[in-house]
Amino acid sequence: MSNTPYYHQIGKEVEVFEHSYTNRIPFLLKGPTGTGKSRFIEYMAHKLDKNLITISCHEETSSTDLIGRYIIKGAETIWLDGPLTTAIKEGAIIYLDEIAEARPDVIVAIHSLTDHRRELFIDKLGITVKAHDDFMLVASFNPGYQRGFKELKPSTRQRFVAMTFDYPEAKIEEEILVKETEIDRSVAKKLVNIATKIRNLTELGLTETVSTRLLVDAAKLIHSGLPKRLSVGVAIVEPLTDDNEVVIALKDLCDLMI
Ligand SMILES: Nc1ncnc2c1ncn2[C@@H]1O[C@H](COP(=O)(O)OP(=O)(O)OP(=O)(O)O)[C@@H](O)[C@H]1O
Ligand SMILES: [Mg+2]
Repeated sequence: MSNTPYYHQIGKEVEVFEHSYTNRIPFLLKGPTGTGKSRFIEYMAHKLDKNLITISCHEETSSTDLIGRYIIKGAETIWLDGPLTTAIKEGAIIYLDEIAEARPDVIVAIHSLTDHRRELFIDKLGITVKAHDDFMLVASFNPGYQRGFKELKPSTRQRFVAMTFDYPEAKIEEEILVKETEIDRSVAKKLVNIATKIRNLTELGLTETVSTRLLVDAAKLIHSGLPKRLSVGVAIVEPLTDDNEVVIALKDLCDLMI
């Protein structure tokens, strides 16, 4: 078996997920980018010894992409199960990343799977497939993103147990940087201080602020020998904004702190 993915628990999420799984209640992860949502699901799937199928939803993602389609092979037309159908049949955990991005027919398709029925209607085949006992549906959703443009309807949201993921407290975030990248504790501390400072600069009006992911990237660059100030500039400041004045101001600030 492969190694357990590294995940540092932030609150009660492991316990909550285990109980959701025991009761087969779908699980919704809310929160900004880079806060460990995907890592958490990889960790839980491994812990529960379940196969994980991840779908990154985007505006073109349709129910056909998830359920399956007929394809032409030579002179024959054959049916190909999509990832959702596969997960249902084999009892895997399916993770619909950024579910609100998908087309509305995806949401419609999963409704019967996310209540007591636990079944999927495949309209192209005219059949209903019952989910395997081990099957579980997990989805993520970034509420701040796109300013309410793509919301989830209450009738969808209320089918899930939901938890918010956010940046961990400083000590834990330091620990994550050290474990993920083997960087010195003193440098990890400085990176977390920079993040805390920028996260508090709400007047910058950034859509999303410094994520743990950006800190991990900066720590990796430093660990592999790139100069510290350059690492912080390219891994933390530049990805945050394209506003030149803000970039210069943030780089000045970071140069003083690293
Ligand atoms: N609690 C944590 N334990 C271990 N690593 C973490 C944790 N939180 C964040 N990380 C680190 O941050 C990186 C980004 O996390 P992840 O990819 O899970 O974010 P995400 O919330 O899924 O983001 P997105 O919404 O963009 O998909 C991980 O690769 C890992 O290095
Ligand atoms: Mg993710």
